[in-house]
Amino acid sequence: MGVEVRTEGITKSFGSQRIWQDVTLTLPTGEVSALLGPSGTGKSVFLKSLIGLLRPERGSIYIDGTDITTCSNKELYEIRKLFGVLFQDGALFGSMNLYDNVAFPLREHTKKSESDIKKIVMEKLELTGLLGAEGKLPGEISGGMRKRAGLARALVLDPQIILVDEPDSGLDPVRTTYLSQLLIDINAQIDATILIVTHNINLARLVPDNIGMLFRRQLVMFGPREVLLTSDEPVVKQFLNGRMIGPIGMSEEKDETQMAREQALADAGHNHGTEEVEGIIPQMRATPGMPVRQAVQRRRERVRQIMHTLPHSAQVAIQESLDANGDGDTQVIPAYQGAFDTTVRHDLTNG
Ligand SMILES: Nc1ncnc2c1ncn2[C@@H]1O[C@H](COP(=O)(O)OP(=O)(O)OP(=O)(O)O)[C@@H](O)[C@H]1O
Ligand SMILES: [Mg+2]
Repeated sequence: MGVEVRTEGITKSFGSQRIWQDVTLTLPTGEVSALLGPSGTGKSVFLKSLIGLLRPERGSIYIDGTDITTCSNKELYEIRKLFGVLFQDGALFGSMNLYDNVAFPLREHTKKSESDIKKIVMEKLELTGLLGAEGKLPGEISGGMRKRAGLARALVLDPQIILVDEPDSGLDPVRTTYLSQLLIDINAQIDATILIVTHNINLARLVPDNIGMLFRRQLVMFGPREVLLTSDEPVVKQFLNGRMIGPIGMSEEKDETQMAREQALADAGHNHGTEEVEGIIPQMRATPGMPVRQAVQRRRERVRQIMHTLPHSAQVAIQESLDANGDGDTQVIPAYQGAFDTTVRHDLTNG
């Protein structure tokens, strides 16, 4: 089963460039979480911090209770074995065929025989739809196949925590849905704690139990999927709808004057992009025949505990999903009074 990942007030800079500050969140054990945010907001830096490849200058990161910002190198080495990571660039070895790439962590970190290794490698290649391509070099296959090979390699050590950085980039919409299903099915099979960094709005709407968003050097939100998906926060709405109107600009964040000018144009009927999507679509489930996702029941209990701290719209959405799943004894609290103010970051998973 997965382990809990918790950050407490972490801040990361490179020289004088502050990437993000005071990020506090918990990836609940065995649940699937997603981290969204415009390009350059430090999502990849966050992911690398979680495995101790980068060290924040302030704050703590607890992996299964151990603070990896202060533990010894030996402890860190052991803790890294809990992780399966798919980096943004896939990070395959260019001179090794797919089989050897996927086998690499097993040869490096275990004493398994080549016949045991073969069994595991072929199983993961099959899972990611790569059977038959094991002899190919990374340079000879498509970008989508490289992503899947990276995912296969991330899975060979039966990780308890899986971090995937933009697994969908370069994939067509159909392959993205297959990948989404694959991530949910992996979660059902091994109950690992999963963090997906993505730009993909469909994946974000469909897959995770929890969603967070980085913007302007802050974690503007992190909590049950219903909170972000029903949010009225301008940056969240802009992102979820892929619109040009809103605080996110092409290269840098916009100022108030520019935002007002654009809003006026929009009001005058100028088309700025896609239509708004309202409401929540049901979360993707594991493929029939897969084990039940154990995270679902745990999450239900957890969300019930923190329900009263959530915005009203999120409570309603949660209630609807509980009802739809035949479990409707949680009360929507009408007295919610805007305690969920997104100008301050909130960690809704700590209960
Ligand atoms: N090792 C490093 N040294 C110096 N600066 C870095 C380093 N790694 C990342 N940065 C800077 O940190 C900022 C955040 O980068 P990061 O790659 O985390 O963004 P991102 O949110 O993952 O973007 P994208 O969505 O485009 O992948 C960028 O300005 C980048 O230049
Ligand atoms: Mg990135």
